[in-house]
Amino acid sequence: MVTFEHVYFEKDKSLILKDINFFIKNKHTGVIGSNGSGKSSLLRLIKKIEKPSSGKLYTDHSYSLIFQNPDHQILCPTVKDELCFGQIEMGNPIDIINSKLNQLLSKYQVNYLLNKTTHELSEGEKQLVCILSALMDESDIILFDEPFSSLDLKNQKKFMKLILKLPQPIIMATHQLDLLEGFDEVIWLENGQIKSIGPADKTVNQYRKYVIGKK
Ligand SMILES: Nc1ncnc2c1ncn2[C@@H]1O[C@H](COP(=O)(O)OP(=O)(O)O)[C@@H](O)[C@H]1O
Ligand SMILES: [Mg+2]
Repeated sequence: MVTFEHVYFEKDKSLILKDINFFIKNKHTGVIGSNGSGKSSLLRLIKKIEKPSSGKLYTDHSYSLIFQNPDHQILCPTVKDELCFGQIEMGNPIDIINSKLNQLLSKYQVNYLLNKTTHELSEGEKQLVCILSALMDESDIILFDEPFSSLDLKNQKKFMKLILKLPQPIIMATHQLDLLEGFDEVIWLENGQIKSIGPADKTVNQYRKYVIGKK
């Protein structure tokens, strides 16, 4: 799905990611690490918003990236336009787009969103619209960058349930370690390098111990 081989990433003369090597093969992969450790940069490289300065990065799928702040993502004044945007850009016929949209909204029982304007949505609804956009675009893999920081606990649980049921593999950067329960693999970044990578429980526990030890 995604392979990093000796990837370095430099921006404005500072080295942000150093000698990154891994191969993502699982359905649910988490990315953890302190602020500034390089999580967002890693996702931006996978999404091809940025390019490695050196090394090889193999990404042969389509990716959607869901940001922490949905206001940075949502472009259109209405939910309908926002959800159809990618499909219209691709030049798909409007009747096919509409039927796809109706199917999607029915599947997730959120038809009520269709006629809303995007600025009247709650934070949870905005985040949901971002996820639905990715589903409309049928990206092979969905990347999440700390997607739930602004959601209350109830909404976080609701979204995790939805996300874990998605047919697509996901890669999620988060500080909310309990959200990674049931994930297959976790990558732990520190100072732009991989500190550890392995089964989710094990890596999250190592990270917890490291953080507590540093206090
Ligand atoms: N556009 C940029 N220009 C220069 N430095 C950046 C840029 N984006 C991120 N950085 C730096 O790269 C490092 C990693 O950032 P980031 O990938 O956002 O980490 P994280 O998501 O783990 O908090 C930080 O030190 C940050 O200041
Ligand atoms: Mg980040």
